[in-house]
Amino acid sequence: MTRQFFVGGNFKMNPATQEQKRALVKVLNEATIDPAVEVVVAPPAIYLLALKEIVRKEIKVSAQNCYLKSSGAFTGEISPAQLVDAGVPYVILGHSERRTLFHETSAFVAQKTRAALDTGLSIILCVGETLEEREAGKTAQVVEDQLKPVVEALKPEDWSKIVVAYEPVWAIGTGKVATSAQAQEAHANIRAFLSSAVSPAVAESTRVIYGGSVTAANCKELGVYQASYIRLPAVPVIGHTFGVCAQLDVDGFLVGGASLKPEFVDIINAKK
Ligand code: G3P
Repeated sequence: MTRQFFVGGNFKMNPATQEQKRALVKVLNEATIDPAVEVVVAPPAIYLLALKEIVRKEIKVSAQNCYLKSSGAFTGEISPAQLVDAGVPYVILGHSERRTLFHETSAFVAQKTRAALDTGLSIILCVGETLEEREAGKTAQVVEDQLKPVVEALKPEDWSKIVVAYEPVWAIGTGKVATSAQAQEAHANIRAFLSSAVSPAVAESTRVIYGGSVTAANCKELGVYQASYIRLPAVPVIGHTFGVCAQLDVDGFLVGGASLKPEFVDIINAKK
């Protein structure tokens, strides 16, 4: 099955001014963008609606987080219902910065995922291990433990609205990108877990994207031509074509720092 390539830009708490936001949008609006790619940008909440109004219609917007209640006394929070009412189709949940800096547990992320789905949002669901966990050989286990509560909270049909973002914490904002083999291995493990915990069909159709120091310079090696190979069940295969490394299970990217620069366009067009 062909999974549509997905490129997300997570602006995090950037840019610092409205002028910088407009400059970013200008670059995106004037660029030639591969129409086969689903592109989603996640600005800070305060710029979400203004950006949605000025960005080209092929580019969707995403919130960077939301709460699980639809309204009420929850100072500082945004509800899934408010996002839907504002015409925002996506929300990022479970980002490692939310998990570590704001103490969000996997159970809480699962509750928020359920609430967001019930409201009609699509979700970019982030998972990933720390360097310590990787060095202890626990990567697959950590990622499974993060996914399990979500699997329990979701029905198989819900997965069509989930994009899983594998973001190793040690690669986020560090300039230390995972090798293509590390990314492929982690993505194949996620797919194998979804196959056994949900169903082979869900595993095959769910997009698993990579995040962590993705740049224009490394994106082709990380994720191009994933759909042009036949994959044998549970056998990771690394194929090569036109001298470019093919990663079967990398269906796109979630980009932080580089999404604030003109090179984001090259990352969107990585498959061209
Ligand atoms: O969500 C994207 C992310 O955490 C990766 O950030 O700056 O390493 O591309 P960055």
